Amino acid sequence: MSIHTKIRRLTVRHIAERKGGEPLVCLTAYTAPMARLLDPYVDLMLVGDSVAQAIHGMESTIPVPLDLMIYHAQAVMRGAQRACVVVDLPFGTYEESPEAAFRTAAEVLKKTGAAAVKIEGGQKMARTIAFLTQRGVPVMAHIGLLPQEVNVKGGYRVAGRSREEWPSIIADAKAVAEAGAFCVVLEGTAEPLAREITAAVPIPTIGIGASALCDGQILVTEDMLGLLGKTPSFVRRYGQLDGAIGEAVAAFAADVKARRFPGPEHTYGLRQD
Ligand code: KIV
Repeated sequence: MSIHTKIRRLTVRHIAERKGGEPLVCLTAYTAPMARLLDPYVDLMLVGDSVAQAIHGMESTIPVPLDLMIYHAQAVMRGAQRACVVVDLPFGTYEESPEAAFRTAAEVLKKTGAAAVKIEGGQKMARTIAFLTQRGVPVMAHIGLLPQEVNVKGGYRVAGRSREEWPSIIADAKAVAEAGAFCVVLEGTAEPLAREITAAVPIPTIGIGASALCDGQILVTEDMLGLLGKTPSFVRRYGQLDGAIGEAVAAFAADVKARRFPGPEHTYGLRQD
């Protein structure tokens, strides 16, 4: 009999059942080592298309190709054993039709082993969400501020600042829930509106720059670790790792220049002095 106990991975059902319960801890991940570090603490790991800015130095998420998302998702799946892993469908790979979305989502799930996909859009994506969920693809929805719409909106604007916008955003939330999404990200959404949506829908709301009363919170990991320099105003930093990296690299550079760098006999413990 094996003495190894297999860690059970959280499923989309476990996530959905947390509605109104213990808040869901969610972070983005793009690499295997980071996924391994986050795994003991998070319920859901999102392989976000924010990989564009966080890892590849792009200006927006628009240029991200599908194969890049698949490579990062495969890496995250190698690093994470317990978290429910969700993969963003990138811009241009799902909006055209429910059939196109299904083909893209099926490729992602088959090639990565992830649990679900995330797509941006409310009422206009409801038919696609229903099409996917009825065919075995769990969907995390994403409403409020939609980064993939940056070119039509002309920037990143908080959603629901004016009360006139509220009915349509509330209708977005209800539409994605009715269509079968297992949870919904509320990004950059005015606090009282995010609270009202959380009370109005039967699925967990995951806030990012929304409300502390959402059913869970998500942040871009590199933002909250202080690795990206300028971050959105709503991001609370829980670390300042850019400074720590700078210090480590400066110490390395000083050792190299002073010829203090250890040889293999030290590195591999061959010499004791
Ligand atoms: O791509 C991403 O990281 C996201 C989160 C901001 C929710 O969509």
